[in-house]
Amino acid sequence: MKFHSESLNVTQKTDCLVVGIYENAEFSVNAEKVDQATAHYLSDLLKSGDFKGKLAETLLVHTPNQPFTRLLLVGCGKKAPLNETQYKKIIKAVVQTLKSTTAQHIHLLLNDIEIKDRNEYWAVRFAIESISEALYDYDEFKSTKAEPTQLAKFCFNSENLAETEKAIQHAQAVALGVKFAKNVANCPPNVCNPAYLAELAKGLDSEYSQISTTIVDETQMAELKMNSYLAVSRGSENPAYMSIIEYKNAPNPDAKPIVLVGKGLTFDSGGISIKPSAAMDEMKYDMGGAASVYGTMKAVAELQLPINVIGVLAGCENMPDGKAYRPGDILTTMSGKTVEVLNTDAEGRLVLCDALTYVERFEPECVIDIATLTGACVVGLGHVNTGLISKDDQFVDQLLNASKQAHDYTWRLPMNEEYQDDLKSNFADLANVGSRAGGAITAGIFLSNFTENYTWAHLDIAGTAWQSGAAKGATGRPVPLLTQFLINKAQ
Ligand code: BES
Ligand code: MN
Ligand code: ZN
Repeated sequence: MKFHSESLNVTQKTDCLVVGIYENAEFSVNAEKVDQATAHYLSDLLKSGDFKGKLAETLLVHTPNQPFTRLLLVGCGKKAPLNETQYKKIIKAVVQTLKSTTAQHIHLLLNDIEIKDRNEYWAVRFAIESISEALYDYDEFKSTKAEPTQLAKFCFNSENLAETEKAIQHAQAVALGVKFAKNVANCPPNVCNPAYLAELAKGLDSEYSQISTTIVDETQMAELKMNSYLAVSRGSENPAYMSIIEYKNAPNPDAKPIVLVGKGLTFDSGGISIKPSAAMDEMKYDMGGAASVYGTMKAVAELQLPINVIGVLAGCENMPDGKAYRPGDILTTMSGKTVEVLNTDAEGRLVLCDALTYVERFEPECVIDIATLTGACVVGLGHVNTGLISKDDQFVDQLLNASKQAHDYTWRLPMNEEYQDDLKSNFADLANVGSRAGGAITAGIFLSNFTENYTWAHLDIAGTAWQSGAAKGATGRPVPLLTQFLINKAQ
């Protein structure tokens, strides 16, 4: 798909001209221009009253005597600045309608639609991200593939070409990162296993000169004393692999890297503390953190950001087996701290604690782990906000700011030291689970015991990495948030 911005004129040739109409047939600025240029064709069209201008309502008409072959009216609701979600709905409705046509070249005259507290840069960015979202389809494993879209080019009307060109560049990278993350996450667990994640990580190395990937296998993990990570993997026939994707492009090559660590449980059965069978298939998404790190590395490499970033995909599978780790086991983690396993389904933190100790060697500027870590986070925040845990207020501000900018919602959870008491064990330094109360927080608190040597934040994406039900599928979150955070860091 091509995106382009220019100062558009309603008299230019195009397969489809798209304009916004508010409720009660109120014209947007561009609709007014179309009306003038077409001897009030638009006014006449609206006289029937069929088109109400309700948010995301569409009306597609063929316009034989005009320079544009089709005119697509899209409803913008009441005439007032829209919020981001409303704006994205409009764009998606436009794409849904255009999908069923043979139109290839589209002129979007929607730059007059105001989004509250957002400039043209963001209007273009969200438009492209939404177009990509609306065109996404995962049919890798279907015999009958979806018809490829005829849509080939979207032109944005703009007077501020420098800003909109930057928006196009950023949006395409974010959209690509989201798409890559979705594709990996949607991939079934009999295909997407830890070795598969490692192959993807190596693929980035081949594709980009700034990326070098190294794979840590189980033998190396044993040498490194990553016993906690290995314990989780022990019940699986699919060996664990931890992929280290190093992107080096800072002007100062010795600049400290920003490290992203993604939980990559390619399937989480719960292990011996096995999960109930309902919706267990969705535990293929337990590698959503790793998928988002992969997608973000892709976006960063596409943008050639002048920073150093290291992405870690902590690949592993949690299965019950004769060799599997059990409740009651005491593990000596890479850090030397011992952990009593009370529940083998709290495996993410056991994989992450060793991965988080491992990354100390990079002397990171900061570390963010991204994990589908707790059902408790879903109970607390639902499917709207990602949970954020960190002790560092300044770091939290940076992440919350990127989250707001990217429209990828995140909410901070508390982490007072008193929560530590919940993880006391009679037999080891720590237990791997606490009581049910505050489960998302105690999971973060558990990890905080292994991240004392650097600036750290934890993102719990259990509620936001995928959707269930009829629209079951990966969301690609929080690639927009992470990419925005890194774009900000590069400035
Ligand atoms: N991967 C799950 C968390 C999860 C559950 C994410 C449901 C999304 C939906 C994680 O490994 C897990 O099983 N966590 C347990 C922890 C508990 C045993 C303390 C949970 O949340 O139930
Ligand atoms: Mn689990
Ligand atoms: Zn899990």
